[in-house]
Amino acid sequence: AYQCKIGPSILNSDLARLGDECKRMLECGADYLHLDVMDGHFVPNITFGHPVVQCIRKSIGDSPVCEVHMMVSKPEQWVKAMAESGANIYTFHLEAAENAEQLIKDIRMEGMKAGCAIKPATPVSKLLDLLYTQMADVALVMTVEPGFGGQSFMRPMMEKVRELRKVHPTLDIGVDGGVGPNCIHHCAEAGANMIVSGSAIMRSNDPRKVITDLRNDISS
Ligand code: DX5
Ligand code: ZN
Repeated sequence: AYQCKIGPSILNSDLARLGDECKRMLECGADYLHLDVMDGHFVPNITFGHPVVQCIRKSIGDSPVCEVHMMVSKPEQWVKAMAESGANIYTFHLEAAENAEQLIKDIRMEGMKAGCAIKPATPVSKLLDLLYTQMADVALVMTVEPGFGGQSFMRPMMEKVRELRKVHPTLDIGVDGGVGPNCIHHCAEAGANMIVSGSAIMRSNDPRKVITDLRNDISS
């Protein structure tokens, strides 16, 4: 088995109190934070960039792990700024990378772990080809069309997780989008071990319980 981690997405949190919301998630037992960076080009929505990540890092302290999910058209452009702002995992979209192999190397040169995400319409074979030539630290399988929180979980994406797990038994494989206690068992059965969950945790009046339930279900 592999270590299972729960990473709340704060996209649907009260962005006017982002630092406090991040601290609240960590106090509720989050293993890491999933920060959704959107540029309005790669996805039809805009959130925040490295200046905000820098303030979040100041607010939560040095130790919590932050993954920046880069839903941006030029992921090469922000590697250094995000590293300097305190990001630990830099997850770019395969669909947006000019040269994914080189980008993974550049991310690592800046001292971050390299994650590679694929949208629902992207075949897992494209990600497997990349991992064959240049291993990433995290593979992120989108289970919604990126751009917004609160969408429904796309169960057919579990085929991609199963395929990745079969070829890479120890790779960190994440799922992102519409994940909650009602569908976590599909993710567990397919072999995911990094669980991003936004609305299911954010809209709960007991986020600690949701995080605990997700962790118990994924590692059962
Ligand atoms: C969507 C983001 C996801 C999303 C997850 O583009 O990448 O991280 O915020 O939130 P839920 O769990 O509400 O789909
Ligand atoms: Zn995300």
